[in-house]
Amino acid sequence: MRLGLSTGGGDAPGLNAAIKAVVMTALEGGDEVIGIRCGYEGLLADAGIVELDRAAVRGIAHQGGTIIGTTNRGNPFAWPVDGEDGRAEQDRSAELIEAFRREALDALIAIGGDGSLGFALELSRKGLDVVGVPKTIDNDVGGTVHTFGFNTAVYVATQALDRLHSTAEAHGRVMVVEVMGRNAGWIALHAGVAGSADVILLPEIPYSIERVCAKIDERERSGRGFSIVVVAEGACPLAGGEHYLSSQAPGQPVRLGGIGDVVASAIATTTGKETRTVVLGHLQRGGAPTAFDRLLALRFGAAAVRAARDGRFGSMVSYQPPNVTVVPLEEALGQPSQVPLDGDTVATARNLGVCLGD
Ligand code: F6P
Repeated sequence: MRLGLSTGGGDAPGLNAAIKAVVMTALEGGDEVIGIRCGYEGLLADAGIVELDRAAVRGIAHQGGTIIGTTNRGNPFAWPVDGEDGRAEQDRSAELIEAFRREALDALIAIGGDGSLGFALELSRKGLDVVGVPKTIDNDVGGTVHTFGFNTAVYVATQALDRLHSTAEAHGRVMVVEVMGRNAGWIALHAGVAGSADVILLPEIPYSIERVCAKIDERERSGRGFSIVVVAEGACPLAGGEHYLSSQAPGQPVRLGGIGDVVASAIATTTGKETRTVVLGHLQRGGAPTAFDRLLALRFGAAAVRAARDGRFGSMVSYQPPNVTVVPLEEALGQPSQVPLDGDTVATARNLGVCLGD
């Protein structure tokens, strides 16, 4: 087989490990891998394609980023073009499939989050043989217990919380830490519990600012003059209203962000306590993957090539501990993964006295 390989959407630690495993597994079975640069720009724009041989993937498993590049503007069904009155979109999926055939590619291994995997599903419906590999720090792809990248983001956020504890305590301040995750609270919950946060606000639980402030006041009364508040970027007050970044270039997708400041200023006003905000942002996505993410990505990459060899197209590799299995893409994308409110991690947070804003 001649396999096309793409990485799309936001990067996630472990992408290079997955690329390495795809290439090594393919080469071992006599197949070849062509990297399509920057999502599908390699076939639809100038980014180009590259043969991924043994030398290309040597020594990359521990590196962050992706050696073939990625983009969050790579929807082949709504490709950004210059229209008569500004930005417009064009369906270039047929052109993409044609380019794919011209390059004599037999199947596509698409590494992505729900956006890129959704394009992969649409391409498979149009006749392309596709195997998906789920990645994202947000852990919000359905059909798999974990995506790779998530564990690293939780590790980075937990380390940040550890560091913020000492400075918060020294000054008797409230530190509000905004973490990524889009509309899923996985990073906030896991890092918040692991990093001993006092308050954790998730998109899955609309919060009451009065409850949050009551928790901070209660700590104050018991002699704990500082508090750590973790806020998922998609968290919403009871009254509703997600927060989006205002500093977006025209034509860019809207981005969640800014809720940390909103929560911090409400806390400062209500409790009178000095409050600071830290937005962890892309620190959660950069750098080396943890051993867990590296291993998961390697297992996903190898499993994707095995699935292609077995002709299991229109599918996605999936982590169902202790195994990596294969599930239909359609099933995986049917329902995004969010924090289950009846799960034991939420119960553990409550048992530990963490305020979840409800
Ligand atoms: O999906 C990964 C993610 O990091 C989200 O957590 C975040 O909302 C978004 O991507 C940020 O995207 P960008 O890198 O385009 O700012």
